[in-house]
Amino acid sequence: MGWRLAALGKCEEGLPSLSFREILRRVAPLIRPYAKYVYAAAAATVLRLLLNLAIPVLMGLLIDSAMGGSFGELTSLSLVFLGCAAAYWWVGYARAYFMIVAGQSLVRDLRAALLDKLLRARIEVLSKEEVGRLVSRVMNDVDVIGDAFTGGLIDAVADAITMVGALAVMVTISSRLTLVVLPLLPAVLLINYHLAAKARKTFRMARKAVAKVTAKVEQEVSGAAVVKTYVRRRDINEREFEEVSKESVSLNVEAAKVVSSVDLLMSVMRALGIAAILYVGGVLVLGGEMTVGTIVAFYGYLSMFFRPLQTLAMFFNSIQSALAAAERVTELLKAEEEEGGALRSPVKGYVELRNVHFGYERNLPVIKGVSLEVKPGELVAIVGPTGSGKSTLAKLLLRFYDPWSGEILLDGRRVDEYDLSYLRRVIAYVPQEPAVISGKVYDNLVA
Ligand SMILES: Nc1ncnc2c1ncn2[C@@H]1O[C@H](COP(=O)(O)OP(=O)(O)OP(=O)(O)O)[C@@H](O)[C@H]1O
Ligand SMILES: [Mg+2]
Repeated sequence: MGWRLAALGKCEEGLPSLSFREILRRVAPLIRPYAKYVYAAAAATVLRLLLNLAIPVLMGLLIDSAMGGSFGELTSLSLVFLGCAAAYWWVGYARAYFMIVAGQSLVRDLRAALLDKLLRARIEVLSKEEVGRLVSRVMNDVDVIGDAFTGGLIDAVADAITMVGALAVMVTISSRLTLVVLPLLPAVLLINYHLAAKARKTFRMARKAVAKVTAKVEQEVSGAAVVKTYVRRRDINEREFEEVSKESVSLNVEAAKVVSSVDLLMSVMRALGIAAILYVGGVLVLGGEMTVGTIVAFYGYLSMFFRPLQTLAMFFNSIQSALAAAERVTELLKAEEEEGGALRSPVKGYVELRNVHFGYERNLPVIKGVSLEVKPGELVAIVGPTGSGKSTLAKLLLRFYDPWSGEILLDGRRVDEYDLSYLRRVIAYVPQEPAVISGKVYDNLVA
């Protein structure tokens, strides 16, 4: 895998800043419970590979025996061929099954781990990011990782082995024909490497453009009632939407153009390869140095050798997005969690603030040296202009945030000594913005 990542590093900007090892270290434990499925899928992949490699040779033998062998040989070869084809199908089915079980289990666990993390993370982690982005990590990013894991990774390894295997068989069958097609290899690599890099770049830009359109739609829909009332604003919004849409269309067209040019160039290369082996092979057959079956078998391996080059180029794309997704997910997985103490002693409700300083952003204090005392049973109203920090005081008491300096005490003990869920249970908090949890009214009141 090393060279692929290194190659990516050369042609990709905005690569994950976390090391591959760090990403692996966090994601690997989630895969471990399903290791047996991964191994089973890998074993099935190897088996399928061997069967795949056997098929062109069998086809060549079949053709040669049809052209000059015995009836018995033809029949037994046909049966072996059928057996291999059936086994190929069955093994492919098993492989897909194991891969999907492993991948989907990984997706489920990763999602559960993320959701758990989100619920335990410090509130800064949540408020720093837009909700949409966090949801996107839990849903889209995890899907991308799952896809790359099931679709990309095992296939890419299998593809690489297929290429080496096919080349080895090609050399064994006919080193002369191999020499004829080998000069195409640098051209093929160049096309794939260069154009695939370009395609990735365009695709990424296109994805960003689509994200902009999505954000715009989201903005429009959530502010629909307001936008409706301002006709001028509506016109501006429509114009802005048209602009981002236009950008998205042209970038997507550009990306598709690059991809189809890769496909077309590869088809041309393949056609050149086929023409070359048919011509040189034909000359050899005419001279009695080669059988038709050998050409057919060789042709089979040639396409087997070329196909993975294309899928590997696609794999670059999927591993690139998966790495980026894995980085975002890992970043969230290591987000700081809320930590509380162990204190769970009964509380009377004696609240004391001593010279508390706090702000949401560095150098932007909101609470500047507040001290106050509230005795049990006392009713205190804190009054102040909007934005003066009233809600912030309540949030500090509940430890959604910790003060920069000063102390907040409940019954004479610092609030951070209390067990977090206990602290939040003994303080009734009615937030300024109502939040309704789906379920019964009762659940909303007591849960
Ligand atoms: N999550 C946050 N991130 C950054 N700044 C914040 C955040 N929450 C509040 N602030 C800022 O902190 C200041 C105090 O906000 P706070 O909500 O405590 O005010 P308030 O007194 O409750 O106002 P209101 O009367 O409108 O409810 C404001 O300037 C607000 O913009
Ligand atoms: Mg408030």
